Amino acid sequence: MQCLAMEEINDFKDIYFFHTLSSTNIHAQEQIKAKKITENSVVVAKKQDAGKGQRGTQWLSNHGENLLFSIVYFPKSLDVSAAFYLSKVTSLALFDLVTELTEGQIKIKWPNDIYVGSKKIAGILIENNILGSAVSSSVIGIGLNVNQALFEKQLNATSIMNESGQKHQLTSLLSKFLQIFNKWLFTQSKEQVDSAYLQALYGHGQTMNFEDKLGLFQGVILGVAENGLLHVKKENGNTCFYEIKEIRFTG
Ligand code: BTN
Repeated sequence: MQCLAMEEINDFKDIYFFHTLSSTNIHAQEQIKAKKITENSVVVAKKQDAGKGQRGTQWLSNHGENLLFSIVYFPKSLDVSAAFYLSKVTSLALFDLVTELTEGQIKIKWPNDIYVGSKKIAGILIENNILGSAVSSSVIGIGLNVNQALFEKQLNATSIMNESGQKHQLTSLLSKFLQIFNKWLFTQSKEQVDSAYLQALYGHGQTMNFEDKLGLFQGVILGVAENGLLHVKKENGNTCFYEIKEIRFTG
């Protein structure tokens, strides 16, 4: 293990670099439980043997080619019902970084996938620890495809290199990301975050095709509630709030 103090990143001081971990999220959670990690630390790995994706999927990444890291954050006062705020802030930081480095059309696909055109470039897995009704600590796991050229077709994925034609140094991108994340988390108001998130949200205000347990339908995304549920107006006029497992975009 190597621990670097990155002076230029005021609020994220301890960055722990590993060659291989099962998952940076798992390691960060273990360290929190053992009280061995301070707040605003970052765990980074070149390779994960069991990288975790959303909905029980595996996050696949070529060795040393992409950014795989988890931020350990101890919110001062964040109610469980508003925990999705961390998801918005993280998505916006990735959105800004990818926008700066690539030419394509960047969107946040609800709840927090970052897309360039029709391909996914980054994913977020946030795991919160709860005390009473508050989030006591949060592990914000991020996988950003940076220098990987080839992906399995069914992943429908891309990387910064594929989109910009340029390779990037992973540590400088991490440092850049943390600065942007820091800005969104600590200096922007809730209104600024909410409005920027909606502006970047794929399909917001547009008629889109979806599937829920009742079948295929057309609807318009009205927004995302505080608790992260997707607010959709169906063609029949009904408005519904969906959890991630309850709705699917169908094109
Ligand atoms: C998704 O499925 O879109 C979420 C992917 C999150 C992957 C990252 S990689 C670093 C961190 N550690 C993990 O095990 N998962 C997250």
